[in-house]
Amino acid sequence: MAATPSESTPVPVTIALPQHDRILILDFGSQVTQLIARRVRESGVYCEIWPFNQADEARIKAFHPKGVILSGGPASVTENKSPRAPQSVFEMNVPVFGICYGQQTMVEQLGGKVEAGHAREFGRAYVEVTEHSTLLNGVWDKGAREQVWMSHGDRVTQLPAGFRVVGTSEGAPYAVIANDDKKFYAVQFHPEVVHTPHGAALLKNFTHGVCGCHGDWTMAAFKEEAINKIRKQVGKGKVICGLSGGVDSTVAAVLLHEAIGDQLTCIYVDTGLMRAGESDQVVNLFRDHYNIPLIHEDASEKFLNGLEGISDPEMKRKLIGTMFIEVFEMLSKRVGGADYLAQGTLYPDVIESVSFTGGPSVTIKSHHNVGGLPERMNLKLVEPLRELFKDEVRALGVELGLHPDFVKRHPFPGPGLAIRIPGEITPEKLEILRKADTVYLEEIRNAGLYDAIWQAFVVLLPVRSVGVMGDGRSYDYVCALRAVTSTDGMTADFFPFDHEFLGRVATRIINEVRGINRVTYDITSKPPGTIEWE
Ligand code: XMP
Repeated sequence: MAATPSESTPVPVTIALPQHDRILILDFGSQVTQLIARRVRESGVYCEIWPFNQADEARIKAFHPKGVILSGGPASVTENKSPRAPQSVFEMNVPVFGICYGQQTMVEQLGGKVEAGHAREFGRAYVEVTEHSTLLNGVWDKGAREQVWMSHGDRVTQLPAGFRVVGTSEGAPYAVIANDDKKFYAVQFHPEVVHTPHGAALLKNFTHGVCGCHGDWTMAAFKEEAINKIRKQVGKGKVICGLSGGVDSTVAAVLLHEAIGDQLTCIYVDTGLMRAGESDQVVNLFRDHYNIPLIHEDASEKFLNGLEGISDPEMKRKLIGTMFIEVFEMLSKRVGGADYLAQGTLYPDVIESVSFTGGPSVTIKSHHNVGGLPERMNLKLVEPLRELFKDEVRALGVELGLHPDFVKRHPFPGPGLAIRIPGEITPEKLEILRKADTVYLEEIRNAGLYDAIWQAFVVLLPVRSVGVMGDGRSYDYVCALRAVTSTDGMTADFFPFDHEFLGRVATRIINEVRGINRVTYDITSKPPGTIEWE
C-alpha cells in the first residue's frame, strides 16, 4: 500500500497560499498518518504531510510552519539507522508535537532514553492525568482517567532535560510529556484515531492553543484562492476536463468554470459501461444547470466492440484506458486543441507514504484515468483539488452550489461496470447488472443507509445456477452484493447489513431482474480483498 520514496521521486509541491497558518506533519510511516492530517484540517488549519527523509532545514523554513507534528511509525529508535526528524525541527522556535514513534524520536534526539520491548500495548488503554498542561486544556483535567488507543512495543524510560510527565498509563509511564518553555509536547498514544475519544480535541489544542493557529482554512476561503490561482496558471489558455460523473471531476469542472468561464470545455465519454441514467444526469447537470460547454460523445459501440471476448481484468483495464485516450484525443481536436488538461487529483494521491520494507509496491490493479494523455498531446495539467481530502472536496462542492445529494455520491471507478462483470462483457449482462444495481441502491436509500456506506454495488458473476421459479426450472446468473465502509478506499470493511435487509434485496432482484436467480453477499474486507472484484 505504501509507496517507497526514491531519490528520483519528486517531492509533492507545496501549494498552500502564504496567508494561511500551516502545520507540517513529518511522516515516519505510520498507517494512520493521514488521519493526523484529517484531524488538523478539521480543526480549520492547513497542513501537509512530508516524508521525514525529504524535509531538510531550508525546505521546512520556507514552508513557515506554525508547528510541526512527528507521526508514528513502524521502526524502533533503539535500532541502528532508524529514522530521525531533522534536528533543526527542535531549533526553529516552533512548537513540536510527537506522536508514538514521534514521541520516542523526539525524546532520543533531545537526550532522553527509549527502551525496547518492555510492555507492549496494543489497542485500548487508559491514561491517568497527573498534571495540568496547555495541551490538555479544557479537554482532560488533572486526576482524570481517559481512554486512548496505543500501539507500541518501545517506550520512553528517561525524559530529556526540561520535560515533565503530564499523564501515565500502565505500559507507558511517560504517556504524555511536556516541555512548556519550548512548547514541545509528546504522547505515546494515537490521538488521531477515533478510539482515542478526545484525540481530535487534543490535536486542536496543539494547533490552536499551543501554535496559535486561527482556523483560517475553510472551503469558502479555499474557493476564492483556488479561483485566483487557476486564473493565474491558465491565463488565456484553453482547458479540457474529462467528466466521469463522479464527485471529484464534477467539482473540479465547476470550480474551473467559475474561474475561467468558457475557456473550459468538458468532455463526457459514454463508454456504454455507465450505470442506469448516469449519462443523462451528467449532461443535465452541466448543460442545463450550469451551462458549461460540454461535449457528450456516445462511444459505447467502440468500447463494447473493443472489449468483446476479453475476460482478463488487467487486459480490460488497459484496453479501456487506451480507447479512452483515443476518444479524448479525437474530441479535443474538435475543440480546436487545448493547452491544459484538468484532473480531479486529490491529496491522498499526492502524499508519498514512507515504506521501510523497500522495493516498489506491486501493481494490484492498473487504475484508469486519463493517464498518458498529457504527454501524448503535450498538455499541461491543472489540478485544483490537489491539496484536498475527499470530504473537503465534498464541502467545496456544496460551497459551489452542488446539491448535497450529488456530492455525497459513492465513488464510481473509471472503467465502470466492466470491472463488475468478471469474465466477458456483453450488452445483455450490462443490462442485467444495471437493473440489479438500481434495485440494490434504491433499497439502501430507502433504508437510510446510503451515507453510512462508502460504496455499494452489484457484481454480476459469470456463473449460472439452477433455481425453481413458480413451477418451472430456472438456470440464470448469480450476483454478489458488495457494500463497504472505508475512510479513503485504501482499507475497507464489509457493511453489516441485517439479514432482513439482505433478504428484501434478494427477493426484489430475483423478482424484478430477469436473468438473475441467486443473490449472495460479499463479506470480504480489504485487505485481503479489494473493493471492486477486478
Ligand atoms: P479497489 O478495488 O482497488 O478500489 O479496492 C479502491 C477504490 O478505487 C476505486 N477504483 C477506481 N477508481 N479508476 C478509478 O477512478 C479505476 O480504475 C479504479 N479501480 C478502482 C474503487 O471503486 C474504490 O473506490
